[in-house]
Amino acid sequence: MSLEDLAKAAQQKAYAPYSKFRVGAALRASGKEYEGANIENASYSLTICAERAAMVTAAVAGSRDLEEVVVFTDAWPPSSPCGACRQFLSEFAADPSKVTVTAVNAAGQRRSWTLAELLPDGFSGRELP
Ligand code: THU
Repeated sequence: MSLEDLAKAAQQKAYAPYSKFRVGAALRASGKEYEGANIENASYSLTICAERAAMVTAAVAGSRDLEEVVVFTDAWPPSSPCGACRQFLSEFAADPSKVTVTAVNAAGQRRSWTLAELLPDGFSGRELP
């Protein structure tokens, strides 16, 4: 299954009773594929985005080398990862300029960036003492 197909299937697993905005994410890390979906909470700020859900799943499985990300929504144009997710994903990108992020929607529209384009001059562990 392609990452796009995986992200599309993951969208069906979203728990989004409040926003009704269902997001599926799929990524490849350390050569393996993982999926995630947004999981909302009645205490809105505790909501987890699809991209972070996928990355956490990958990291827990020991796959910490992020290679590629696909996000699937019904948005028009296809929506890109939020700022928090950009930061979270960057933690696991050895070289953010080599990680492609593609946003796809149900109509088959596509937009693509590198993670470096989405988060220029991002904060990283290299800044820490
Ligand atoms: N959402 C994501 O899953 N990923 C993003 O990058 C943007 C927003 C989710 C969070 C919330 O459940 C819904 O979309 C509306 O913000």
